[in-house]
Amino acid sequence: MRFPLVMAGLAMIACSAVPAGAQLAAGKEKFLGNIVANSVPANFGAYWNQVTPENSSKWGSVESVRGTMNWTALDTAYQYATANGFRFKAHTLVWGSQYPSWITGLTPAEQRAEIEEWMTLLAARYPQIWAVDVVNEPVKTPLPFKNALGGDGATGWDWVITSFQLARQKFPNAKLLINEYGTENDAAARNQMLAIIALLKDRGLIDGIGIQAHAFNLDAMTAAQMRTCLDAYAATGLDLYITELDIRGTGATQTEAAQSAKYQELFPVMWEHGAVKGVTLWGYIVGQTWLANTGIVNADGTERAATTWLKSYLAGSPPPPPPPPPAPPTSPPASGGGGGGGGAPSPGFLGGLALLFVVRRLVGHPARTGGNRAR
Ligand code: G3I
Repeated sequence: MRFPLVMAGLAMIACSAVPAGAQLAAGKEKFLGNIVANSVPANFGAYWNQVTPENSSKWGSVESVRGTMNWTALDTAYQYATANGFRFKAHTLVWGSQYPSWITGLTPAEQRAEIEEWMTLLAARYPQIWAVDVVNEPVKTPLPFKNALGGDGATGWDWVITSFQLARQKFPNAKLLINEYGTENDAAARNQMLAIIALLKDRGLIDGIGIQAHAFNLDAMTAAQMRTCLDAYAATGLDLYITELDIRGTGATQTEAAQSAKYQELFPVMWEHGAVKGVTLWGYIVGQTWLANTGIVNADGTERAATTWLKSYLAGSPPPPPPPPPAPPTSPPASGGGGGGGGAPSPGFLGGLALLFVVRRLVGHPARTGGNRAR
């Protein structure tokens, strides 16, 4: 290995912790995250509780010069996330885009050694990585150097399998995800993904599915179509993550109102789906998103309608539980009780149970407020 592992000597960025409970999804079963570019926006912690680096954990960003690793921006994002107890996802190990340009000039054996070294160094420097997008866009973005990882092979996707095998070795404590765009409303592309996922699942190599959910797909989708997509992926039994959510509006109408309306139509389908364990937006500040008109907070800190709605929706979610079943029958009322309302329940055993039930509803049932933390 050409680089010493300078874990102890990392230049730590001073990160002020944000107040607990400040984020939109604080205390909820699922996380609501966002991306961090080169620096952390001052209001990040007022909204989000999970971090994905936008570009800084891509191999091409870190090692644009062979043998010289630039971790600066990634250190910033990682230190912020870990200092605040937010999940940190690395994005991404193997992708047919934003890889170092020099890689294509090497032999497959050299490429393989470089890929493994990239994974080794990333894992060693950031031991608290919660999840990693092992392969990004296997269907949509071909990998020019896939032969270094076994090529198509007998399965048709050997290079993806090898990538996950390597990732399992290097990141034994992280969730291994596959991540793709454009399958949200495209059954044929989704079926290709499901075939790859089956190969990985059969080998115990995958922990979750990342659905990018970008505006160029979602703007034209209905709630029913989104549910169809999520149900199809959920049938694998794996956890689902919405990994790069952005929304503009509907068709050519990318007004603030149209954006908010589309959020209101689609976000609850994702957030309330049982298999979806967390949602990450791909940017939020107007003028700082990769796709124009997807921001939901203005640069001056004022909030667009989508954020106003999102805040109130999340403040009330999960939706109110269904009404309680009818109270069990109580002992016959004491004679002369009048039979009308207002009388205290009978002190019999069943009546006591009913009273206990009502009290627990009023103070909140732990099973509804706790539950599984998003994994
Ligand atoms: O850093 C250079 C800068 O030095 C140079 O002057 C400038 C000139 O164009 O380019 C800068 O790099 C840009 C980089 O973002 C950092 O800002 C690249 O040109 C630009 O192509 C790159 O775009 C990124 C894009 O991935 C590349 O594919 C976006 O910021 C990033 O949001 C986007 O994210 C992807 C996900 O990783 C995967 N899913 C799709 C998503 C959107 O495309």
